[in-house]
Amino acid sequence: MSVSSSSLPPSVIVTRLRAAGCVFAEDEARLLISTARTPSDLAAMVDRRVAGLPLEHVLGWAEFCGLRISVDPGVFVPRPRTELLVHQAATLHPAPPLHLADAPRQAPESAVRATAPTDRSSAGIVRATHPADRSPEAVLGSADPVDRPSPGGVRATAPTGWPSTGDDRATAPTGWPSAGDDRADDRAYRSSAGVIRAAAPADRSSAGARRMVVVDLCCGSGAVGAALVAVLGDAELHAVDIDPAAVRCARRNVEARGGRVYEGDLYEPLPATLRGRVDILTANVPYVPTEELALLPSEARVHEPRVALDGGTDGLDVLRRVTGAAPLWLAPGGSLLVETSDRQVPAAIQAFTRNGLIPRVATSDDLDATVIIGTRPTHQNPPGK
Ligand SMILES: C[S@@+](CC[C@H](N)C(=O)[O-])C[C@H]1O[C@@H](n2cnc3c(N)ncnc32)[C@H](O)[C@@H]1O
Repeated sequence: MSVSSSSLPPSVIVTRLRAAGCVFAEDEARLLISTARTPSDLAAMVDRRVAGLPLEHVLGWAEFCGLRISVDPGVFVPRPRTELLVHQAATLHPAPPLHLADAPRQAPESAVRATAPTDRSSAGIVRATHPADRSPEAVLGSADPVDRPSPGGVRATAPTGWPSTGDDRATAPTGWPSAGDDRADDRAYRSSAGVIRAAAPADRSSAGARRMVVVDLCCGSGAVGAALVAVLGDAELHAVDIDPAAVRCARRNVEARGGRVYEGDLYEPLPATLRGRVDILTANVPYVPTEELALLPSEARVHEPRVALDGGTDGLDVLRRVTGAAPLWLAPGGSLLVETSDRQVPAAIQAFTRNGLIPRVATSDDLDATVIIGTRPTHQNPPGK
């Protein structure tokens, strides 16, 4: 729904957003106008955005892998870079029905990206720069994306092909699903990480494939699990978060797609019957080193909970706990996928290998994303068996 032209004129909204430092003010204005239900709703939304709230919290949704994901205030906003994790997970199972095009390259463990960081927000446009929202690069004068803390890190430049200021496309380049489009039933979509095509469930059942078991730890809004189930089709999804606000939000996104959401610490609330049965274990854990939290843009630092960002001294505290218990929950041949920063890769790899998982690294220059995939060998017994 969008409000009538009798409400706040678009040019006034654009001027206010631009004065507040929103670089892609026209795009944001279009999204706000198309999401607001009434003129007073629109005015309030513009005020909140001008005051520095993340666009996705103002809209109440973020675009992720072509889906519209509900995001409540105080809940981590799914980042475009995390689409790489979904893309990698979707290519793992089941072997025959998934067809993948434009796959990101597999990188050696020490891979360093040379391209500029991706700057598209989860609402499908380049993330705006609020005046109070100075990036670590802006503050420190560094242009090296490798040193950039993430998630919630710097989004300084737009990738080629994304809408620029004044472009009519409010949400996404030609060929992408529109931000408001819920593509849960369409299992061929173009994500930021490439084209993912999954076979229809009927194809899979005729091939005799069993139902995949997917667990999404640290689920936040539930975006990763929801997107994965959308592309895999008929999968059994379990998602966990420790933050009650995230759990409430995830229930809307995940239960709508047939999954279950649990509140608690990592594996603790999961049913014991899942042990040794999980095919895909995703965990976009908090991974910002504690000392770098202060360098995050205010949209993350002020408006996202610390529990979603703080990964401890080197950013890997939660990741180590996830890898430590993963072999107990993974099925033989099942994989754990986590997102890290480039410079965390060597230490993260150690955490995987120490727990008997065979690691590999995938990166995407366009998304400024790094994912570690660790597979439980098929011949290995889980701990305690
Ligand atoms: C970086 S956010 C990722 C959210 C979501 N997966 C995404 O990609 O948009 C990390 C999430 O982990 C949750 N979290 C942090 N520590 C946790 C723990 N010990 N157990 C479960 N969830 C945890 C936070 O509440 C937050 O929602």
